[in-house]
Amino acid sequence: MDNKLLISLTEKYKAPLYVYDAEKIVSQYKRFENAFNQVKSLKINYATKALSNISILKLLKSLGSNIDCVSIQEIHLGLKAGFNPKQISFTPSGVSLEEIESAVALGVKINIDNLEILKQFGTKHPKVPVCIRINPHIMAGGNKKISVGHTKSKFGISKYFIAQVKEIEKETGMLINGVHMHTGSGILDVNVFLQGAEILFKIAKEFENLDFIDFGGGFKVAYKENDPATNIEEFGKIMSKRFNEFSKDYGKELSIVFEPGKFLVSESGNFLAKVNVVKKSNETVFAGIDSGFNHLIRPMYYGSYHHIVNISNALAKENKYTVVGYICENDTFAEDRMISTIRQGDILCFKNAGAYAFTMASNYNSRFRPAEVMLYQGKDYLIRERETMEDILNKQIEVNIDL
Ligand code: LLP
Repeated sequence: MDNKLLISLTEKYKAPLYVYDAEKIVSQYKRFENAFNQVKSLKINYATKALSNISILKLLKSLGSNIDCVSIQEIHLGLKAGFNPKQISFTPSGVSLEEIESAVALGVKINIDNLEILKQFGTKHPKVPVCIRINPHIMAGGNKKISVGHTKSKFGISKYFIAQVKEIEKETGMLINGVHMHTGSGILDVNVFLQGAEILFKIAKEFENLDFIDFGGGFKVAYKENDPATNIEEFGKIMSKRFNEFSKDYGKELSIVFEPGKFLVSESGNFLAKVNVVKKSNETVFAGIDSGFNHLIRPMYYGSYHHIVNISNALAKENKYTVVGYICENDTFAEDRMISTIRQGDILCFKNAGAYAFTMASNYNSRFRPAEVMLYQGKDYLIRERETMEDILNKQIEVNIDL
């Protein structure tokens, strides 16, 4: 995205600021759709948790996307964005039976990830079709924190418990209409997805009344120049062929479902923050910015790399900086990173700030969460205002204890 334009947005809306390039979301969506143009029924259930601003959801809706939600609150956001309940799937982990029932009452499709709730749900609601989330016991993902399909992961029903699922299905008379898995996030290798798919195909054969198979999300995007990304075109080609074969063998035209989050929105996002101070210490030069892990936690929580560009001085000579936040804890965005000369007041742009960036922001240190802007065809749309002191105080109740 053009640096001048981004700077002008920080003048208009102030920093720190999230800016999303809607055209990038559109092109990524179309790429995904295209990669699977050989299957009859593709359903893209965008992983809402990656970026849940209602205007982004509306954009995805107008592209023809469905959504996947992990909380009843995300479902309400989806409904507010105009999705039909049938376009929403609910894939929670470890939620109460009541929360699943509230989703069903709204008409949303559900995914259950443990035998205990499956049995309770099936007994009470034998007429509601259910998809089951399988744990394929595959260790994959950008790092351990975002690997969720391995043996020790809390997610899904173990692939070794299929007999028990069938037993519950029979006992309760419920209908299992889909099988699902999601192995992790930031998975590069196409073969990992294909290997997982074979596990799911094998399980799918055990159920006679499926309408779809859901292979989750987890595709890796590039975080800097020359950083490898999942080859979605290659995956689409191989997977579509294999899926069509499976469908034929199964004897029914099934839908193929995916739940991409990062793939659709990561690269669309730019996080802009102003430099408060350039501070020399013994060996290190710190660039202290008007932000912290309260706004972008991925570098601190996962050790994730976010490319940083000094868009106020992009062509200047590069020096080594440690970019830190203002939170009263260690909140290092980048250590000893080569960045073009940073001066007080410059605007730094953090790339790949579309997925799991704003949605993981908090009010720690009683700071305001930033504003969000969506750009489409050169026009900027404010899609969330910066918080104010009122938001910090909202819901707090002042109690005076007389001592
Ligand atoms: N489906 C399910 C059931 C999921 O749990 C997730 C992500 C996705 C789909 C989408 O995965 P994606 O395509 O975005 O990789 N906060 C972490 C990522 C956590 C992902 C959680 N689940 C990060 O910032 O790297």
